[in-house]
Amino acid sequence: MAYELPDLPYPFGALEPFIDEQTMKIHHDKHHSAYIDKLNGALEKFPDFQGMEIGELLSSLDSLPEEIKQTVRNNGGGHYNHGLFWEIMAPNLAKEPKGNLKKAIARDFGSFEKFKSDFGALAANFFGSGWIWLLEENGKLKIEAWPNHDNIRIYKLKAKDILILDLWEHAYYLKYQNRRPEYIEAWWNVVNWEEAEKKFLISNFSSFAPR
Ligand SMILES: [Fe+2]
Repeated sequence: MAYELPDLPYPFGALEPFIDEQTMKIHHDKHHSAYIDKLNGALEKFPDFQGMEIGELLSSLDSLPEEIKQTVRNNGGGHYNHGLFWEIMAPNLAKEPKGNLKKAIARDFGSFEKFKSDFGALAANFFGSGWIWLLEENGKLKIEAWPNHDNIRIYKLKAKDILILDLWEHAYYLKYQNRRPEYIEAWWNVVNWEEAEKKFLISNFSSFAPR
């Protein structure tokens, strides 16, 4: 069974004016779609790996044939990360977390404002293409910035994804061009804190499984 492009959980224009419709269309229908096509193409000759949950596949890179290892890492990582990215955004939502996640952010970062400023500074200063994450590892929240489409499954971390922000230029260039800090600032308006809270509360580290 081949990996498939998940539908966006909202219309392409739903995140306007913060993330524009055209960017969302190209990002989802072209970029994410191309990662999946390349991933499926790489696995064509290797049926043993075709039915695996995407996170499981990324954690098994060592056992993949050498000729497809890098392609699966790049494109499988792209599929995993984008699937997660679409889920943790939504229009017209609360601008802050509440409940357990709010408490954990205050516990581990001092305050929500401090968390936002640490996350934003790291994202703004990250060099090149990559992603920035809010994770939970060993019962503690942390911010990580990783290059390309790397993620917790590729690094085999026993961690939970909570939030993720795409720092590739394709995520913001049409609207924000070189002004990455403006994109980051705008993105806070479309963070789906309810979904982030759900991800924070799951007990299974690998429960996120797009196909
Ligand atoms: Fe992207």
